[in-house]
Amino acid sequence: MQRHFHRTLPERLALLLLLVVTRISLAQDNVVHPGKPWLDDRGQPIEAHGGGIIKLKDTYFWFGEDRTQTNDPDKRYVACYSSADLVHWKFRKQVLKMSDPEHLGNWILERPKAFYNAKTKKFVMYLHLDGPGYKLARVAVAVSDRVDGDYIYVRSFRPLDQESRDIGQFIDDDGSAYLIFESRPTKGFFIAKLSDDYMSVEKQVAFVQAPLEGGALVHYKGLYYVVGSHLTGWKANPNVYASAKALGGPWIEFKDIAPPEANTYDSQSSMLIKVAGTQTTTVIYAGDRWTPKTLWDSRYVWMPLEIGGGQIKLPEPKPWTLDIKTGITTVLDPK
Ligand code: DGJ
Repeated sequence: MQRHFHRTLPERLALLLLLVVTRISLAQDNVVHPGKPWLDDRGQPIEAHGGGIIKLKDTYFWFGEDRTQTNDPDKRYVACYSSADLVHWKFRKQVLKMSDPEHLGNWILERPKAFYNAKTKKFVMYLHLDGPGYKLARVAVAVSDRVDGDYIYVRSFRPLDQESRDIGQFIDDDGSAYLIFESRPTKGFFIAKLSDDYMSVEKQVAFVQAPLEGGALVHYKGLYYVVGSHLTGWKANPNVYASAKALGGPWIEFKDIAPPEANTYDSQSSMLIKVAGTQTTTVIYAGDRWTPKTLWDSRYVWMPLEIGGGQIKLPEPKPWTLDIKTGITTVLDPK
């Protein structure tokens, strides 16, 4: 026997209200879930590994390695996403789709970082370009007139004539742009200023005698802080930090950012993102949780840092919220 459900008008209104409230609360869910799949506006996982972020007016742009499984295996890809709140990301496009630019064979393109040059009005992207066995150790430069591409390959070189593998990006409060790069033969990393047009790496600002990769920098309350990881390939290790009063150093002793046995909560440093809000300034640790056999499924571990007075602590990853206006972050269930 067929049953008929006749809802009364108040019942229908209540259901409608429930639907609207659920949709609003989903849309307003400002929660970052470290280590969980992070979906873009299309509902697809964000592909921006080993990434870099720049802010233009009120919009953040996140660039990173796009390791989508269906990508052409002969090409390498960089994707770009935009966001007003660092939590909800809109997929812009694959801003770089490149074929082997230097006939390297089994080639590698990692850790893209895009800079905006206000003088030339160009977007200049730095990438780690390498060949079989990571022996080439160069940076590549690609340029675009628009933030979201297409970026056109220009050339590759060894910055300051040094071997360069992992690169990091730093833009100081005065707008000056720097590249951090790991240099294995010299057992350390360089902090170097870009040229006026950003098309080359001009000047060594510091050489830090610590063999670290995944280098990330932030300028916070009068001090510079650098974070980096030890050289263990895709495997996580206890990342360390040091601080200095000036970029040129001296850099005061490296210490673990988290209990060493946690291996940086199974992640590797990539960026330190500063959010200067109306009430507080927050620094976010942004790391990659690499899964080398399924690189497209590598996750992001983002957490607000405890930072100040020359110290950094990365708290255990938990879901958290960010108010982009005030800069206030709240860790949910902090116990
Ligand atoms: C560690 C680096 O940080 C990554 O970008 C990548 O180059 C892997 N090593 C490769 O093993």
